[in-house]
Amino acid sequence: MFDNLPGYTPDPILGLIDSFRSDPRDFKIDLGVGVYKDQRGVTPVLHCVKAAEKQLLDAETTKTYLGSGGNADYTRLLKKLLLGDEIHETMGPKIAAFQTLGGTGALRLAGELLRAAAPQSKIWIGVPGWPNHSAVFGGAGLAVDTYIHCAPKAQEIDFPKVLSAVNRAAPGDAFLIHACCHNPTGIDFSHSQIGTLMDALRARNVVPVVDCAYAGFGDGFEADTFVARQALSEFDEAIVCFSCSKNFGLYRERVGLIAVKTRAVDTVKNVVLGLSAFARCDYSQPANHGAAIVATVLGSPELKAQWLEELDQMRAAIQRKRQRLSELRVNSPVLKAISSQRGFFSLLPIESDVCAKLREEFGIYMTSDARINVLGVLDSQEAYLAQCLSRALE
Ligand code: LMR
Repeated sequence: MFDNLPGYTPDPILGLIDSFRSDPRDFKIDLGVGVYKDQRGVTPVLHCVKAAEKQLLDAETTKTYLGSGGNADYTRLLKKLLLGDEIHETMGPKIAAFQTLGGTGALRLAGELLRAAAPQSKIWIGVPGWPNHSAVFGGAGLAVDTYIHCAPKAQEIDFPKVLSAVNRAAPGDAFLIHACCHNPTGIDFSHSQIGTLMDALRARNVVPVVDCAYAGFGDGFEADTFVARQALSEFDEAIVCFSCSKNFGLYRERVGLIAVKTRAVDTVKNVVLGLSAFARCDYSQPANHGAAIVATVLGSPELKAQWLEELDQMRAAIQRKRQRLSELRVNSPVLKAISSQRGFFSLLPIESDVCAKLREEFGIYMTSDARINVLGVLDSQEAYLAQCLSRALE
């Protein structure tokens, strides 16, 4: 029967990890998956994480089950961090928080929750966007529709198109927004656009679903949680999907959180029970290790301060790299806009055949829509990248 399976293709992002690793060429550059890389090309374990792991190793007394909700300290502390003190104080009781398997796990549970609460509703996702969004929500049984975030190759948001999608949405639909560091364009909504968008969503009774996977890499942790906090404080109902993969450097530990704003404090308990039921079917329970690390870091004023400092350093490295890339001499201004964008990614205004040429002829890997992780280029590789881009664009 397995002969009858439909033909599958590798994931457009994760598939690049394998293709890059198996490429035997010495000169190759990996601009694929979104991970932080230092000047050696290494994705380091943060110092605060190492310190927390040492503490955990000594203190751990059991490996017994956690239950579907995971590590309670993690959920409590991360919820408070995400909301900030003021919103936590005023709105906290109306917000359900639940540990998930990374940000993707949070998105999946969000899809399942929306589907259970409003089976007729759909979710609107922006294009260009993260290719997995539609698969995750569609897989959860939600209908998916799209709105234009930017026109192809454009370097700014097509805001009238975003608003026109809100006007086409039905009351009860959900609308996905990237909190910061838009994946794949690096082009974020301005504060005034966010204000207008939020007003439009509220007026139509559309529920914001905020994907907050890169908090800390745009303009700092507080600034980058602005959209998530707006959604959770200004709406009767909203969802935020948060990832600790990048900002805690815990990629493979799969640590995330879903926060669900409800109309009434009494609803929170049932939302958590619903999420537990979905989790029980999908994977039963999350793992402890990554969540325990985050709880240890956030629970210690010293480690938390160290974490924020390390996060600031990573952000500064991204900004430095963006500046350097935008100044490279290429025979076309394809890198110019990079310095004004935010986060790990930029979408280069080049065609997919140029991407294929860069990969095949020069060993430069990016997704076929020309998304690059700017940190994939070491300083020592910048001249090579500029030269290859110029040749591929000839
Ligand atoms: C990315 O977009 O590269 C990251 O979010 C990793 C992933 O799961 O796709």
